Amino acid sequence: MKKLKIGIIGGSGYTGGEVLRILAFHPKVKITYLTSERLKGQKVSQIHPNLRGLIDLDFSSINDIKDKVDVLFICLPNGVSMNYIDKFISLADKIIDCGADFRLEDDKVWLNWYKIPHQRPEYLKKFVYGLPELNRERIKESNYVAIPGCEATVSLLTLYPLVALDLIKPYPIIIDAKMSSSQSGKNFSLATHHPERTHCVRSYLPSGHRHTAEIEMFLSKINKKIRVDISATAIDMVRGILVTIHCFLKKEIKEKDIWLAYRKYYKNEYFIRLVKQKTGIYRYPEPKILWGTNYCDIGFDIDKRSQRLILIGAIDNLVRGTAGQAVQCLNIMYNWPENLGLEFSGLHPI
Ligand SMILES: NC(=O)c1ccc[n+]([C@@H]2O[C@H](COP(=O)([O-])OP(=O)(O)OC[C@H]3O[C@@H](n4cnc5c(N)ncnc54)[C@H](OP(=O)(O)O)[C@@H]3O)[C@@H](O)[C@H]2O)c1
Repeated sequence: MKKLKIGIIGGSGYTGGEVLRILAFHPKVKITYLTSERLKGQKVSQIHPNLRGLIDLDFSSINDIKDKVDVLFICLPNGVSMNYIDKFISLADKIIDCGADFRLEDDKVWLNWYKIPHQRPEYLKKFVYGLPELNRERIKESNYVAIPGCEATVSLLTLYPLVALDLIKPYPIIIDAKMSSSQSGKNFSLATHHPERTHCVRSYLPSGHRHTAEIEMFLSKINKKIRVDISATAIDMVRGILVTIHCFLKKEIKEKDIWLAYRKYYKNEYFIRLVKQKTGIYRYPEPKILWGTNYCDIGFDIDKRSQRLILIGAIDNLVRGTAGQAVQCLNIMYNWPENLGLEFSGLHPI
């Protein structure tokens, strides 16, 4: 069978590297090119050493690519892909963008959170939000998919059933997010310099996290009153996100009802696992055992004293939070099994 041709724009970064790693073993695709402006002409395996012997390609510049491919994966920093969108659309039948440029539906909301005017607002309505379990039908019908942010992915998957079934108050919903260092991409700064970043528990964004916008956009489709507030803390971890979400039940309910809510939405979902064990050390979701996987683990607890519901979600930011989710969307767009190329179980111990 003829394999699909794939291009990866921004292939030298962390997200591009993960798309490449996953697609290198995907049975239905073949990588045609990867781009890097700074590393044009260099061997891909020099930058992604884990793929040594597996990928024999050199980086190209965006300006030099001319061949049409079936699908383009875009892994550029926020605010860059909108400037190239006409070229990208002329190069591929389908586009999967891992950045934020086409996630929001409203350019005023974009300006408010990203602080730069959107250059191509007419494309915002053409892209669909690539959150497979909750937007599968739209992804199936679309040629243009915007992958949710990593923090938004885990928060939405964790919150959605409770909001949809109207079990929690629309506010306060406080998302306490513990973030890993790979979330800032491959470029370094003083904040990511090893002596500053290692061993840290740094409250770096107590308010103002941009993913607030996409979480509220998605949840407001079921309840317009929803408000989420995020506080982000950088911790000493290379991959992974853990969110602890504090929200309040509308009325007293039993644990069983929370289980039922999650089962209603996720009982047939391969990548969503409910984690709540009475004993052992992995009683609740933990990002460490998800490294390299496309799973989203979800757990919860009820504080009966205050009717506080504590939801706990964990993912690998580079896989379920970006590249894996992008491949999951590819599988949906082509009607292939959703877990094709994504079956890795993770490692233990690690
Ligand atoms: N890291 C994560 O955990 C994560 C999670 C979810 C979503 N995302 C999103 O994924 C996207 C990529 O993130 P990343 O972490 O992979 O970033 P990254 O490691 O910094 O990589 C960025 C890539 O874009 C290229 N690039 C940078 N500026 C460019 C420009 N002006 N024109 C053309 N190419 C340019 C870089 O190529 P050069 O070699 O030329 O520099 C590199 O290949 C971002 O939008 C991010 O928000 C990332």
